Amino acid sequence: MQRFENYLQEHLPTVETFHPHYNSSLALMLLAGGKRFRPMLLLSVVEAYEPLLFEGALAPALALEFLHTYSLIHDDLPAMDDAPLRRGFETLHVAYDESTAILAGDALNTEAFYHIAKAPLRDDIKIKLVEVLARDGGTYGMVLGQSIDLHFENEPLSLEQVKVLHKNKTAKLIAASLLMGAIIVGLDKNKQDELYGFGIDLGLLFQIQDDIIDETQSDEEAGKPTGNDGDKNSFINLIGLERSIEEAEELADELQSKFGSFDKKLQKALRPIMDKYLYRHR
Ligand code: IPE
Ligand code: IPE
Ligand code: MG
Ligand code: MG
Ligand code: MG
Repeated sequence: MQRFENYLQEHLPTVETFHPHYNSSLALMLLAGGKRFRPMLLLSVVEAYEPLLFEGALAPALALEFLHTYSLIHDDLPAMDDAPLRRGFETLHVAYDESTAILAGDALNTEAFYHIAKAPLRDDIKIKLVEVLARDGGTYGMVLGQSIDLHFENEPLSLEQVKVLHKNKTAKLIAASLLMGAIIVGLDKNKQDELYGFGIDLGLLFQIQDDIIDETQSDEEAGKPTGNDGDKNSFINLIGLERSIEEAEELADELQSKFGSFDKKLQKALRPIMDKYLYRHR
């Protein structure tokens, strides 16, 4: 989606300051790329139901990418996963220093909500978007997941607990991306719930696949250090590669059949993302 990339380039935070690398430190990880999975989900729902709202939906889509990128910048810090590589580039604490990385994360977190507030959408819709993004990207979702992830390093959790971990650290923000699209186009509560539930399963699969990537891909292929989950409650460490792949395939089948019950226009809009990212491991 070239329109999203253009919008992102045009809306990088740019501040008049004598600080020598303030602006470039905020832009570095955003420009490094990434799959843009979350904004694509939101924009696909909007494209399917109300293409005329696409323009207005770019700001909340950007907000998702800002919040997600902040979570990655902090995830890579020495105090967290201590990773020197992200999206094929040196991480911010390596390129600059730790305080720069912490502050760039802080800035992108707040910048996300700034963009929703300024979006050309109805105020009641924007308030709901803020609520969902804050809930699932914050205290009740991503931050809780990251806390569990880090607190229980070296302490094995049960499979059910690891699913709770993955659901919070990753799946809720992915579900929120679909839900935010549904809110923008005004889908009814049932449809919103259906999309959110689908997003949770999709996000769980996404994180299981991410755990598989850590085990099976090289740093170059992944654009981030792999073999890095040694102390983690990853699917691989808990049930091994074979069973993780089986679990992923099962979830992918379930998702496929739920997907088949969606409105045709939604299927059409989401299919390219599903085909690209619900990859089969056999
Ligand atoms: C990485 O997210 C962290 C997880 C939640 C699995 P992505 O795999 O979406 O990373 P980018 O945005 O493509 O870099
Ligand atoms: C991080 O999960 C998920 C976030 C909320 C940032 P990981 O630690 O597995 O993500 P990667 O593998 O570093 O991208
Ligand atoms: Mg992590
Ligand atoms: Mg990590
Ligand atoms: Mg990972």
